[in-house]
Amino acid sequence: MKRKILIIVIVLFVAFLGWRFVRPMQIFIVSPAFELPIDTSNAPAMFPTLRAEECATCHREFYDEWSTTIHSQAWTDPYFQVDWVFDGSPQICKNCHIPLDRQQKFKVMGFNDAAKWDPILEPNPDFDAQLQHEGVTCNVCHFRIGKDGDGKILGVLGNTNAPHPVEKIESGNEICVRCHVVSGERWDTFFKFPPCGTVAEIRTTQGKNYVEDSSDMSVEEIAALGCVNCHMPLLERPLVSGGKIRPTRQHLWRGGHDPEMVKKGLTISFKETISDDSDKRQFTLTLKNTGAAHYIPTGTPDRHLTVQLRVLDKQGNVLNEENHTLKRTIMWRPIIVDLWDTRLARGEQREYTIEITKNNLRAATIIDAEVRYHLLDEARRKRIAYKNKEPINYPVFQKQLRLAKNN
Ligand code: HEC
Ligand code: HEC
Ligand code: HEC
Ligand code: HEC
Ligand code: HEC
Repeated sequence: MKRKILIIVIVLFVAFLGWRFVRPMQIFIVSPAFELPIDTSNAPAMFPTLRAEECATCHREFYDEWSTTIHSQAWTDPYFQVDWVFDGSPQICKNCHIPLDRQQKFKVMGFNDAAKWDPILEPNPDFDAQLQHEGVTCNVCHFRIGKDGDGKILGVLGNTNAPHPVEKIESGNEICVRCHVVSGERWDTFFKFPPCGTVAEIRTTQGKNYVEDSSDMSVEEIAALGCVNCHMPLLERPLVSGGKIRPTRQHLWRGGHDPEMVKKGLTISFKETISDDSDKRQFTLTLKNTGAAHYIPTGTPDRHLTVQLRVLDKQGNVLNEENHTLKRTIMWRPIIVDLWDTRLARGEQREYTIEITKNNLRAATIIDAEVRYHLLDEARRKRIAYKNKEPINYPVFQKQLRLAKNN
């Protein structure tokens, strides 16, 4: 009897795994925060289209800054487009990449499934292709229906005399968490935090090293995340030309697409260190996350860093080589499991060494170190057939030590 039950359990388990191979799990949990597009039905009459140009007539500098960012390309971004189509063009992706209802060709009337990945759709008569191309545009972040049912522009200052209705929020980070911190709790999901569009791994309070679900967080906890402090540098200037000078935030949001931003997050050095073995020489690269509250790299699990250390002879031949990858590795099928994570947590330091062995001491001429940031790797680029125009990886640190010859 016991054996029979055991066999049935095993058969069911194998069937479950097989089914998961054919129908893989959804990669993140749809929370109420982003299950539906943003309702724009009650927009103020002075904003008939809600396009960025409407705001630019008064807030030109903010518009110019936003135009340089990946937020303004969250839809047109060729990497996103290829990846989205590769994934079967799910509608849910739109609720972060183009979340205003008018940016979407279809209205979401409800869902066919409990996980909310399969929406019931109807054509949207208010669809605006130009607004769609603006991706995460001004009103994605700034427009909300207020408690009184009328459309409001969210702001943190609250003491301004704007010609449009304003609703004061406590912290600008409240805006970020809608898309950047996503819930991952589910009985059959085994990752520490969900993989898409998240910096849920950020350390907020002592002892708690990731954010489970932004909807459970207090205003103080959200303010402590610091997103705006690091990603929107402070600048004293008027909001409109001729206006009062106020503390404002530059709309720059730099991240993995910007080498300077990645460099800012890391402190890297490379030098000779003492070897235990007097017959050898040893060189150490030290890598520390000194500038980000979350992991480096962060964001989609495609992002990673590589460290390459090499010993070269006079002709440039490689005598010895060490390679390391700092990446979050996830098993996707049949079930999702975080396998290992070698990225750098906040404040974490790592050391990598390379040696010149006794028999290479004479020939070794140059010790070469390079750290590269990768938006995605070559294998994945090929698999989704993404034809990149910008490089998919770039150096963030390069140093060559030339050995003095004393023999
Ligand atoms: C006709 C000019 C005009 C247009 C158009 C306009 N604004 Fe404003 N906005 C202002 C003025 C004036 C202020 C207040 C300036 C001050 O007091 O320093 C302001 C203030 C703001 C504030 C700060 C509110 C606070 O108290 O924190 C935000 C945010 C803002 N606008 C966003 C937008 C967005 C987004 C759009 C486009 C949907 C937009 N504005 C369109 C003129 C305009
Ligand atoms: C409506 C959803 C949404 C909101 C709200 C949002 N973001 Fe984003 N953000 C995105 C998407 C989508 C991307 C990626 C776009 C792409 O690469 O296709 C992104 C990209 C970024 C990047 C990466 C840039 C790079 O080089 O890869 C940074 C940094 C960032 N956001 C910071 C913020 C901060 C800070 C806030 C709050 C002020 C915020 N975001 C609010 C959706 C959002
Ligand atoms: C909860 C909000 C959210 C949802 C839903 C979402 N994304 Fe994103 N996505 C983001 C944010 C935020 C970023 C930027 C930070 C990062 O790299 O994770 C991003 C970045 C990306 C990038 C990297 C773009 C680049 O230029 O490097 C790709 C590709 C992407 N998303 C594809 C998708 C696909 C496909 C879906 C649907 C299966 C999807 N996203 C659903 C928020 C979201
Ligand atoms: C990704 C979200 C996001 C987008 C997109 C965005 N803003 Fe903002 N904006 C913010 C946040 C957050 C603040 C408040 C910053 C703070 O904490 O001081 C803000 C503040 C402002 C302010 C008030 C001055 C200040 O810095 O507090 C103005 C004006 C403004 N935004 C205009 C715009 C315009 C115009 C656009 C489009 C061209 C735009 N914003 C796009 C998130 C966004
Ligand atoms: C102490 C400064 C700091 C704080 C706080 C911070 N970041 Fe970052 N962030 C950085 C640095 C530096 C980088 C560049 C390194 C990298 O891309 O990993 C970065 C990169 C990113 C990226 C790029 C990911 C990609 O795929 O390219 C996103 C998205 C992002 N941060 C969002 C956020 C959000 C959202 C918050 C708040 C929850 C936040 N950050 C808080 C410093 C910070």
